[in-house]
This record gives sequence, C-alpha cells and structure tokens, in this order.
Amino acid sequence: MKVYVPRDYSACAMGADEVARAIEREAARRGLSLDLVRNGSRGLYWLEPLVEVERNGERIGYGPVTEEEVEGLFAAGFLEGKEHPARLGDPEEIPYLRRQKRVVFRRMGRTDPLSLDAYRQQGGLAGLTRALTLSPQQIVEEVTKSGLRGRGGAGFPTGIKWKTTLQAEADRKYVVCNADEGDSGTFSDRMVIEGDPFLLIEGMIIAGLAVGATEGYVYLRSEYPLARRVFEEALEKARAAGMLGNDILGSGKSFALNLYIGAGAYVCGEETALLESLEGKRGMVRPRPPLPAIRGLWQKPTVVNNVITLASVPVILADGAEAYAQLGVGRSKGTLPVQLSGNLKRPGLVEVPFGITLEELLFEYGGGTASGRPLKTIQIGGPLGPFLPPSLFSVTLDYEELTKVRGIVGHGGIVAFDDTVNLGRMARYAMEYCAGESCGKCTPCRIGSTRGMELLDQILSGKKGPGAAELLVDLCDVMVNASLCGLGGMTPFPVLSGLRFFPEDFGYSKEEVEPLLQKV
Ligand SMILES: Cc1cc2nc3c(=O)[nH]c(=O)nc-3n(C[C@H](O)[C@H](O)[C@H](O)COP(=O)(O)O)c2cc1C
Ligand code: SF4
Repeated sequence: MKVYVPRDYSACAMGADEVARAIEREAARRGLSLDLVRNGSRGLYWLEPLVEVERNGERIGYGPVTEEEVEGLFAAGFLEGKEHPARLGDPEEIPYLRRQKRVVFRRMGRTDPLSLDAYRQQGGLAGLTRALTLSPQQIVEEVTKSGLRGRGGAGFPTGIKWKTTLQAEADRKYVVCNADEGDSGTFSDRMVIEGDPFLLIEGMIIAGLAVGATEGYVYLRSEYPLARRVFEEALEKARAAGMLGNDILGSGKSFALNLYIGAGAYVCGEETALLESLEGKRGMVRPRPPLPAIRGLWQKPTVVNNVITLASVPVILADGAEAYAQLGVGRSKGTLPVQLSGNLKRPGLVEVPFGITLEELLFEYGGGTASGRPLKTIQIGGPLGPFLPPSLFSVTLDYEELTKVRGIVGHGGIVAFDDTVNLGRMARYAMEYCAGESCGKCTPCRIGSTRGMELLDQILSGKKGPGAAELLVDLCDVMVNASLCGLGGMTPFPVLSGLRFFPEDFGYSKEEVEPLLQKV
C-alpha cells in the first residue's frame, strides 16, 4: 500500500511534513504497514497538502489534509479509498489538472523524485538514450526544429545558442543551468528540482553532448534549501548509476555535473553576473559582446540555460522535435509551465501550450480573486514585468502577441491583484527594488532608480512640481535605453504600465499622461 505526501517546499509550508508524520504515527498505532512516498507536488497548491493513496495502480486524492484530520481519515477508511469530506477522487481527473497539457511536468507528483527506477519506468532517460546515438550537430538540429525558446525570460531560441557554442573552438566548454529563480511569483524551477531532479540532470547531459561540453554547473538560488538537499541526493544517485561521469550509460562519453549555491542577489540571475558569481567573484554584469556562448565561464564557451529550458530537452529528444513543435502558436512553440499566484482562488502550476488567453488562465484555472473583489490587474514576467489591465486579458500567451501590448512572457509568472492595489505604490516599489538589487555598474540603473524613488515619493505625496510626470517618463526612457542589463532596463515597465493604465493611482488623468507616454 503506497501513500503519497508531497515534500515540495510549498506543500511543506502548508503542513505536509506534519501530515506525513501523523500518517506514520497513526499507521503504527493501528499496526498497519504502508509505504509512505514523499513525492513532488502536482502544483494544485490550494489543495496542499494533497495526500494520495495508491490501490491496484489507481490513485485517490484527499486534500487539503490537516494533521488533525489524519486520524479521521484512517477511521473513514481512506486507505481503501473510501468517502471523506476531503476526498477528491483521481487527482488526474480534477479539471485543473485534466485540462492541462503536461509535457515537461508529465511525471510531476506521480513518482518518488529520488527513485531512478521510477524515473526510468515513467519514460525517463529515453531522451538521453536517443541523444547518445546522435551526433552533436543532429542534437542541435533537433532542438532547433522543436522551436524551443529560453524559458528564463528573454525567449532566445535555444538551438541558435547551442549552435554558437558548438561551433566555438575551445579546449573546454561548459553548460550552466540558471536555477536562480528570482522572479516574484515563480516556482516552476524549484518544482522541477524538488519533484523531478533527474529530468534536469538528463537535460544538462544532453546539452553537454550537443555542444561538446564535459562539465556543467547548476547555479541554485540560495533560498531553496530543500531543492539543494534533493538535488545533492539526486546527483549522488545519478553518479552511482553511471548516468553521470566518464561513461554515460556505458557510452564512453563523459559529463560531470556540480551544484553551486547562489549568492542571494536578484542580479545573479542575469547570466553574466551569474558567471562572475560562479567564478567566486561579486555578481557584477559583464558587458556583451562577447556572448557567454562564445566566452562565458572562465572565458570558455558556455551555454547558460534556464531550468525549464533544459528540462524540456529530454522530452523533445524522446518524443521528437515535430511533436513538440506541433504544440503552441506562431513562433511560440511547445508548452509553458505558467505559475499563477497572488490574489487568486486557485494558485498553482498550469502547464499549457502557448496560445491560451490570459483570461482563461486567470478565471478558468485561477478561479478569479481569492478576496472576491474585482481583479484590477496582473503583473506578468516577474518583479519588473508590466502591469496589464482587464481590457488586455483577451491577449494570448505568446511571445510576439504579448510584446505587441508591451507585455512579456518572462519566466511565466503571473501575479494577480484585486482593486485594493495602488499602482503608484507598486511603481515606487519597482524603483526601490531596483535600487536595492542594482549591481552598480551603470549609471541609469544605479542612480536612476534612486532618483525614480524620490520622484515617485513627490508624485504620490501630492507635492509634485509641474513637470514631475514628464521627468519620470524621461527618466524611464533613459533607464530602458541606456542600462547595461535587463534589471535597469526593465524597472520602468511596472512604472510606465501603471501610469498608462491607472494614471489616477498617481494623481493624474489619462489626458495628462497620454501625450507624455507616446514617446516611450
Ligand atoms: C536581472 C535579471 C535577472 C534574471 N534572473 C534570471 C533567473 O533567475 N533565472 C533565469 O533562468 N534567467 C534569469 N535571467 C535571464 C538570464 O540572463 C538568461 O537570459 C537566461 O538564463 C538564459 O537562459 P534561457 O535561454 O534558457 O532562458 C535574468 C535576467 C536579468 C536581466
Ligand atoms: S542595469 Fe543595473 S544591474 Fe544591470 S549592469 Fe547596470 S547597474 Fe548593474
């Protein structure tokens, strides 16, 4: 008899560890023997802790379960799948999950994350096994044909990046996984590392085979202690099983993988600052060119990719590029694990093909606001993403369509706010955030963010001078166009979108701000 209780960080925050211990205690008290598996979360966070019982190969879910309810669950016969107010039936039939297209997250929550056997049984290693039969050029070609674009934020085509590194001449090359996951409202990287770590390891090995790198690093956000523990254990197991090392699955090819804990700064997620940090230096942004793909870690050609980008690769190799490219729309191919959070009834992980509208995500999946008040705005793409009003919720999730309305996909995080939010305060927060996180290398960001804070303080206190709005827009224009990296370059997005769609929150009318905003 198998009982699954997630060991995902968010599930644990909702009491999953206490529930797991209570289940073990109650089973011992009743003299029952059961196999308690700590799985990853399915991503239905409003139902966590979501306990599942496996009987004759079928799963019955119960959630959210509290520690106090465990005795009652045993008494009601939950081990036989019997009725209880928390009974959800087959978790895969819950509409939130059933309607998704789980490609990268296909195993999430279904297996023991640290069992390589379970990984293999559920389709793991099929991509690597195929990659080992292909030449580097063929692997790069397959990834290019799939249309995969980087999921870290910029949406750069992965195949082109890999081809650049493959063609660079060097005695050593590296693959670096960006697992710094600093964007507010994002957690898909963490879920993969905690809930399906071999998938990331497999993706990194394939990336190494593709570009000719024999060594890789995962740069993990320091605020993810559980992900660190799980990944360390997964690495040990992968090494012991010959998945990593000098003879990958008996092929004679080699790849070594190391875990590096990040420095705890948002800017260290920017790929060149990350490389500086990985080299043991302060996380300062490097000017480009040269691109990391040509001169990256220790000045050697380096592929830097996000966790989700790398985790998509085994699936592409296993199912074929065409199958992946058939999903999505236009130049936005495949699926995106969207992370819904903020003021929503049903926050969680929703993996869907590109092309879905924001409205469907927010209402059909998210269920509208948790507060029951009107949904005023969403911030999409992290702390420096723009705020979009309800009039734009009909826009589809698509890199190009979102760009048309000055939106961004970013890392796929959507944070919802009801009508109690003040966009003037949120704009001020963006400037404050930038001032705190700026690496200090360039003036528009280092000085501009502090000037922006001061200006917004004046505007919001009602003591603004006659040209304050114009000055704010000018400052934003300089930051967007003259900053060295995206931190300073994107900080104006929440400011300008707030001003454009909600000028009253800044004490202005639409007529006052519209002419100013035309130039940015
Ligand atoms: C300030 C800043 C922070 C960033 N943080 C992250 C991050 O936490 N994770 C990430 O994957 N990319 C982050 N990026 C994007 C990376 O610089 C880079 O584009 C990405 O790692 C490339 O991988 P991809 O092609 O797979 O998206 C950040 C960029 C900026 C400007
Ligand atoms: S924009 Fe900010 S974080 Fe980026 S290089 Fe300039 S000072 Fe550093």
